[in-house]
Amino acid sequence: MCGIIGILGTDDVAERLVEGLRRLEYRGYDSAGVATVHDGRIERQRAEGKLNNLARKLGQEHLPGHSGIAHTRWATHGAPTEDNAHPHIIGDVVLVHNGIIENFKPLRDELLAEGRTFNSQTDTEVVGHLVAREVERGASPEAAVKAVLPRLHGAFALAIMFKSDPDLIIGARLGAPLVVGYGEGENYLGSDAIALAPLTQRIAYLDEGDWAMVRRAGVQIFDKDNNPVERPITLSGITGALIDKGNHRHFMQKEIYEQPVVVAQTLSSYLRTLEARVALPDMEFDLGSVERVAIVACGTASYVGAIGKYWIEQLARVPVEVDVASEFRYREPVLGPNTLGLVISQSGETADTLAALRHMKACGVTTAGIINVPTSSMAREVDLLLPTHAGPEIGVASTKAFTCQLAVMAALSANLARAKGRLEAAEEARLVRHLTEVPAAMNAALSHDAEIEGMAHTIAGARDVLYLGRGPDYPLALEGALKLKEISYIHAEGYAAGEMKHGPIALIDESVPVIVIAPSGPLFEKTVSNMQEVQARGGKVVLISDAEGLAQAGEGALATIEMPKVHPLIAPLVYAVPVQLLAYHVAVAKGTDVDQPRNLAKSVTVE
Ligand code: F6R
Repeated sequence: MCGIIGILGTDDVAERLVEGLRRLEYRGYDSAGVATVHDGRIERQRAEGKLNNLARKLGQEHLPGHSGIAHTRWATHGAPTEDNAHPHIIGDVVLVHNGIIENFKPLRDELLAEGRTFNSQTDTEVVGHLVAREVERGASPEAAVKAVLPRLHGAFALAIMFKSDPDLIIGARLGAPLVVGYGEGENYLGSDAIALAPLTQRIAYLDEGDWAMVRRAGVQIFDKDNNPVERPITLSGITGALIDKGNHRHFMQKEIYEQPVVVAQTLSSYLRTLEARVALPDMEFDLGSVERVAIVACGTASYVGAIGKYWIEQLARVPVEVDVASEFRYREPVLGPNTLGLVISQSGETADTLAALRHMKACGVTTAGIINVPTSSMAREVDLLLPTHAGPEIGVASTKAFTCQLAVMAALSANLARAKGRLEAAEEARLVRHLTEVPAAMNAALSHDAEIEGMAHTIAGARDVLYLGRGPDYPLALEGALKLKEISYIHAEGYAAGEMKHGPIALIDESVPVIVIAPSGPLFEKTVSNMQEVQARGGKVVLISDAEGLAQAGEGALATIEMPKVHPLIAPLVYAVPVQLLAYHVAVAKGTDVDQPRNLAKSVTVE
């Protein structure tokens, strides 16, 4: 993963590079570093840990230079130490890298055999040595990079500078994103348009295998066969202002609270309330011909897919398969004609999901994507883009993207049902009405924040926590467990409530809190029976249900959280709120870094 940025500027660039890194911290925050080429020297500053450590160092010691590259790291090869932090300097070459060089071991052995020495455990340093070796043999920077790129296997975005030429940054990409930014007398490279937003809105997206010679006077782009190519310059429209937390303590809290608004925004582009219809963007294929849906996503987004399976199968009677993207290609899925391939992603850059999307396209499958970042690789590559309008999600734990994805999934399920002739107008009108109730119901759910905060201290002391749900609330249980473990570091598991008796119930004793997600409705009684089996064994239950459900089954629970009464279709959107708040408050009670939990990154661009 990692974020990279390069500036060929008209004044000192170190501060602007750090500003760019702030916008890229979502790609990793294990270490950060900046290098400039100045007065015939390569200057560098690096620091372990969060970007603020680097900013502090740079505050103490100014780094001069009008040309520079910078990096924020998510460690793949080598521990997150300063030695492994980018940029790496090898002779006259300095470089930053996002991705993984899969054949780094034989390349490193080859270089070691020549007596070259390494100062880090990174795969990146191998690339630096290969380029430096070409330069030492007399190659120009351009020729050196051209010679090395075909030797690299894996995924990479690179920005390379040379001591001999402060007016040049060479960028290259394969399997990891890289954009060129065009300024006034300055030019830039970056992992995305967001990093470059304060510098320029004029962005060209490099294609797979492209490499670019970026100079102040202009940029030359070459394709993977070294042919000069033009890549269109688009206006990114991304604001240069850094997003702040407003009155909230953490981005995650702010994003949980934004949900009624952003879900309403998202729904408004899919609901024609006056006509009581659900509508998708125009598409070039007939949804009615879809005979199967293959959903692929990772983590939280994959749980949206799992909930979508219940919805699509119930409403449209079209069979759905859901895969986590890292498994999809490797199980050699059977992708017949009339399959709709659906990817779900907040970032639109997750490497596993992107690879799965490309696999589906290569198999001739029509693809759609529920995606939050409209300029992302996936958004540009799917046949049908179904955007979410969650706005930038900064907290590493996904919250508002999840519920916006669910909103779009509900719209897609209804559309598919109509296209398959399975949704009567009256039923569609009812669905539209239920969906329009979601923002208000989310607000009602948010009003229980203080109670949830109150019970968080009890959960914070637990070593293990279980989440139970049935039907579409089972994937929500999985999401609850993921949310809790990633930000509070408490071990948590989600189970289909009926599955407890087949093994996991052995875990139950009075020290294991069990969060039961059980809106009243057709599955309520069965879920409550499973909950009672847990209580009979001393399990401490937190029951999340509506007034009717709590009146029926709340007695004996350690705690209850009351939700508004909602239609079962929209329950996962509304019940997501207490699930997120509980994880948030437990993490705050434990004092963890809520927005940037250990070992994680917001955008996972390595396989
Ligand atoms: C968990 C979380 C992750 C992401 C996953 C996919 O809170 O955020 O599980 O959902 O890494 O990311 P995107 O949606 O960007 O593809």
